[in-house]
Amino acid sequence: MTIPHRAGLENFPPYRQGKAPTGIDGLKAFKLSSNENPYPPLPSVTAAVIDAVANINLYPEIAAEDLTHAIAHRWAVSPENIALGAGSVEVASQIIHAITNPGDKVMFPWRSFEAYPLLATVAGATPQPIPLAADGSHDLAAMAAAVTRKTKVIFICNPNNPTGSVLSATAVETFVQSIPSDVVVVLDEAYVHFNCDPATAVGVDMFRKYPNVAVLHTFSKAYGLAGLRLGYAIAAPDLITTLRKVAVPFAVTALAQQAGVASLQAENELQERIDILVTERRRVHAALLDAGLPVLQSEANFLWLDSRDRTGALTALFEENALSVRAFPEEGIRITIGTPEANNRILDVARQAAAVLARQP
Ligand SMILES: Cc1ncc(COP(=O)(O)O)c(C=O)c1O
Repeated sequence: MTIPHRAGLENFPPYRQGKAPTGIDGLKAFKLSSNENPYPPLPSVTAAVIDAVANINLYPEIAAEDLTHAIAHRWAVSPENIALGAGSVEVASQIIHAITNPGDKVMFPWRSFEAYPLLATVAGATPQPIPLAADGSHDLAAMAAAVTRKTKVIFICNPNNPTGSVLSATAVETFVQSIPSDVVVVLDEAYVHFNCDPATAVGVDMFRKYPNVAVLHTFSKAYGLAGLRLGYAIAAPDLITTLRKVAVPFAVTALAQQAGVASLQAENELQERIDILVTERRRVHAALLDAGLPVLQSEANFLWLDSRDRTGALTALFEENALSVRAFPEEGIRITIGTPEANNRILDVARQAAAVLARQP
């Protein structure tokens, strides 16, 4: 007997995690396929987690008051503006579940974070992908023009995963002003800490001006807590109240809550690591350009190679050098910035990669 399931999920692919690297004799392997932070947690964060382990026989506190207050304080907003989730991907899911009815549309740029279409479909909504502009940035004019009465949520990914492009404050503000005020615009800022563009849109600033803007942040990237699953939204209180209703109860563990509080207390120390990653990103970007590779400007902790029909050949080359990268067949390759040692390996591969690109098809 086959178990009946929701129509539309038959051919739906599950979320694809970044690959582990293939071991090669004599070479240390590096995973550069999931935009993870290569550095281990800070000692103070590890200590907070170890402390919390003593109580894992108990359910976590759903309200997560300490963490909620710490985040609210960090951004000078009210605790009523904060909703938590098991990673910002879970908060994105809450937003779609809280807002859309079956058949409503969830708009996002494409290519972007791979979970957007998945989360929309799983919630019974219809994904509405809008192609990126040729330079890898959001085509905000096309997005605004595509809004219909069915469009209820719009994701803006700033910086965009996987292209690394950023949107200016002026561009985002013009966009927000051009769409109906009952459409929720989610500014997904998973990579905000790596974004040094002085003209960039800043989610919290947009939220303060426009109540239909919700901001998504995560502890997975700059804070290096991907394995603990912790993210949050900053949004208007009525939306936050609904997000808390649709959240999976107890999804945010006590360990994650303690680690979140400890991370916010250690932001200065974390900034040193962020600075290293940004410096490394610039170094690798410049060297890849020098080697003649089609690498885009990025304000995130990864770089995008616009490798198109050479994507397969280049991915194989990275794999032969014990580096796993995120390949999007016929489109391009996203390479996470790792430790300087891992990044040096990227540069070792770059010269061979340039030769592959120069070869006639
Ligand atoms: C743009 C973007 N948003 C959200 C997430 C989700 O991160 P997490 O669920 O680990 O907080 C990711 C993860 O890769 C991402 O790239």
